[in-house]
Amino acid sequence: MARTEHPGPAVHAPAAPGRLPLLGHALPLWRQPIAFLESLREHGDIVRLDIGTWPVHVLTSPDHVHAVLVQQAQKFGRGRIFDRLRPMFGNGIVTTDGEFHRKQRRMIQPAFHRSHITEYAAVMSRAAEEMTASWTAGREISMVNETRRYALSSVAEMIFSGDLSRPAIAEVHRSLPVVLEGMLLRAVIPKSLDRLPIPLNRRFDAAAARLRRIIDQVIAQYGAEGAGEAGEGGEEGRHDLLSLLLSSVDPETGTTMGAEQVRDEVIAIMFAGTETSATTLAWIFHELGRHPEVEKRLHAEVDAVVGTRPVRPADMAHLPYTNSVFQEALRLHSPLLFTRRALEPLTLGGVSIPAGAELAYSPYALHRDPALFRDPAVFDPDRWQEDGDERPRAHRYIPFGAGQHKCIGDSFAVAEILTAVATVASRWRLVPAPGVTVRELPAGMPQPSELPMIPVSRH
Ligand code: HEM
Repeated sequence: MARTEHPGPAVHAPAAPGRLPLLGHALPLWRQPIAFLESLREHGDIVRLDIGTWPVHVLTSPDHVHAVLVQQAQKFGRGRIFDRLRPMFGNGIVTTDGEFHRKQRRMIQPAFHRSHITEYAAVMSRAAEEMTASWTAGREISMVNETRRYALSSVAEMIFSGDLSRPAIAEVHRSLPVVLEGMLLRAVIPKSLDRLPIPLNRRFDAAAARLRRIIDQVIAQYGAEGAGEAGEGGEEGRHDLLSLLLSSVDPETGTTMGAEQVRDEVIAIMFAGTETSATTLAWIFHELGRHPEVEKRLHAEVDAVVGTRPVRPADMAHLPYTNSVFQEALRLHSPLLFTRRALEPLTLGGVSIPAGAELAYSPYALHRDPALFRDPAVFDPDRWQEDGDERPRAHRYIPFGAGQHKCIGDSFAVAEILTAVATVASRWRLVPAPGVTVRELPAGMPQPSELPMIPVSRH
């Protein structure tokens, strides 16, 4: 399949095969969403898919994805998946676009500055120590649960600090998994079904309301105390994201955020930053458990750099092989699908895209394309080494997206994941529980169906 611009008059995107009236491609999407999305590349660089009566142009070439996310980004808004999330998550940076999004992103960005990541990494190291200290040699643990708890703690501790926030952190642990579970379904089912009084909807609405309430309470408490000198690196005051957001002033307009907007941003960041990291971590331990030779090299590197002391932020730069293992696990287990909406008519790769049309890109499918990655199904961390003969090229590896909506938490996620992997590796080998077949479940980030593992002490 040619992957270049087509000269000549613009044409319509070819439809994926198997389309039915009214249902469109809903059946293969329902039965085997991941395999179906991956198969689209065989039908062109831009393929039309109908989810029921909702048409989407799926971009299967990295050049088109780059054009939409980066080169011509101003011609696109967020699209359907994000619209459906807005009633729950409000107007945080995940769901908004345009000038409002740019302003919010400018104000939030400092919280993800390198100097803050170093502070958060110290907290992550303590959370990873706690996780590994709770394990007993030979007693099976669920790595899906362990990584989720760790990721929730890392994000919650970044957002709130201090004893006042303990009830909020406990509530996040209780409610966020329920919200995340219901979220994907909400993103794809018709809006009219949201209000059906079925248990899933009720549990979802109750959890989302609890989460909003408790965050509002903490914001009110912070406000009553004053946000301190957070953000300015002062000795007093909290150094957490919530304080930063409350005290943040937009350099261009001189305005601050209202309490409601701060709450929306907190929820957006929690929602975007927990399941993604937790799932990536779970897959890393799964791949290490299946590849003893990779595990051995990773252990040797961690032994040489960290030994048996707690992991420090400065260690990250000295763990290149561990980093390659992370990148490779994330390549194989990337987010499934994000949407954009054309704000004006345009032509992309010879295909005409009308105003209002929905587009989508799949980091997951791109990262498994044999035209882009040698032996894409093979887990091979060496492809990421500096001297790797086939080090994947720019635009082809986009687990964090690209352009103005690129993941704001990418450095946070790297610190969080490397800290956990190195802390675990310095103490334990995790052996897959016998007799279990780990399957891939479709989700925003495809997840392991289960991941029971047995800790074996390394010392
Ligand atoms: C391995 C872990 C992670 C992966 C794979 C990941 C992936 C992504 C991707 C692909 C996007 C862009 C979506 C698009 O194009 O529409 C994104 C956006 C975002 N991510 Fe992450 N993410 C991860 C971790 C995190 C963490 C830890 C945080 C926060 C603590 C976070 C916060 C966000 C936010 C707020 C956005 C929206 C940015 C915007 O639209 O301006 N993510 N993420």
